[in-house]
Amino acid sequence: MDKFIIKGPTTLNGSVNISGSKNAALPIMTACLASPGKYTLNNVPNLRDTRTMIKLLEIIGSKVVFKNNTLLIDTIDCNNPEAPYDLVKTMRASFYVLGPLLSRFEYAKVSLPGGCAWGPRPIDFHLKAFESLGAKVSLKGGYIKTEGKLSATTVSFPKPSVGATGNVLMACINLNQKVIINNAAKEPEIVDLCNFIKKMGVSIDGVGTETLSVLGVKEIIKQNIVYDIIPDRIEAGTFLIAAASCGGNVRLKSVIPSHLNLVIQKLRLAGALIKINTNSVDISSNGLVNPVDIITDVYPGYPTDLQAQWIALMSKSNGSCFITDTIYTDRFTHIPELIRLGSKILLHENVANVSGVKKLFGAEVMSTDIRASASLIIAALSAIGKTELSRIYHIDRGYECIENKFKKLGANIIRVSN
Ligand code: EPU
Repeated sequence: MDKFIIKGPTTLNGSVNISGSKNAALPIMTACLASPGKYTLNNVPNLRDTRTMIKLLEIIGSKVVFKNNTLLIDTIDCNNPEAPYDLVKTMRASFYVLGPLLSRFEYAKVSLPGGCAWGPRPIDFHLKAFESLGAKVSLKGGYIKTEGKLSATTVSFPKPSVGATGNVLMACINLNQKVIINNAAKEPEIVDLCNFIKKMGVSIDGVGTETLSVLGVKEIIKQNIVYDIIPDRIEAGTFLIAAASCGGNVRLKSVIPSHLNLVIQKLRLAGALIKINTNSVDISSNGLVNPVDIITDVYPGYPTDLQAQWIALMSKSNGSCFITDTIYTDRFTHIPELIRLGSKILLHENVANVSGVKKLFGAEVMSTDIRASASLIIAALSAIGKTELSRIYHIDRGYECIENKFKKLGANIIRVSN
């Protein structure tokens, strides 16, 4: 298993290109299953998760070519609307195939995702929504089966869910009756999915708001679509936080700055100087960090996917602060590892109280999930001495060539294969 050897402390200087968004690319890839056609997706990040999704699309019957971040997907001959356990257990986002398959075949069978490293991640919203659209939903042998002709309805989620909103949107692609989705997710990744689905001929009102009104196409037509995936705001946020922690001058290129409004606001309070340009963001920091509380929330709130990285930054602040995760109340597996690097953190339920320390020291630590790994890299880059970060297959799921990007900024980080 690969690991990273990181030698700190380091400052970060230079520019970094931000890749396409993982969480926008994954549902858009599955949306291609809803209508037979040839799709060209540009700016798709080359990640373990996107490669897993390619395997799944191929099992379903798609022909896929992936080169230089451009993905060609031909879904004309798809004939196997089933997603096996082997793939779904490695990536929960595989569940996204349910909606588009149901839309095209009036049938889909997808393995239940099973457990997640940081606690329960239910799918009840997805299933209830499919039922209210008229599908018959059953569970047998670890597989969810959905079948039947869908019909117009109003779907009201108890709280916004990115995955459930995406799945319902894709289920509606070939449904030529109006469906209203209340309490929909407003995340930029859902907006990107809506924009892609609109290119498929679906009409959607309220994009980017909590109420979506969706009218699918009259008949299943052959598609030929070219689409550019948005930049990854979580990767961008990770590099901004790393620069604030290490100090230095960094330019992030290929970003949509408005997707990072609250993160930038919080980083400024923490002491970083940030200049926003049209498609890039400049950050400069002297590496001194003020304590700043955050509470994660749905967009445009502070993202849960940048909670772990914020705890790493606050570990070297000059005071104490509170970091609360309201989206995933158990998502704190990075804390014991950060403590190994010298962080002082007390966790009470979903609130982490971080008391900044003057110095962090390198140690052997372990990745536990994608964002936890990113937080450990940030802490290791700021720590004195050598850190060995194992189980980095987690980071490869969500960050394209992260070590090369950090190396280009001057970090001392190498990948070692055992
Ligand atoms: N929820 C339910 N029932 C459901 C679905 C969600 O109770 O059926 C709850 C969840 O437990 C959570 C909240 O609703 O408390 C929101 O979860 P959501 O459904 O929005 O999360 P998701 O779609 O499973 C996506 C991202 C996650 C990101 C969350 C929150 C993808 C592939 N995954 O997950 O990304 O943390 O939204 O923004 O888009 C990551 O990239 O590292 C990652 C975990």
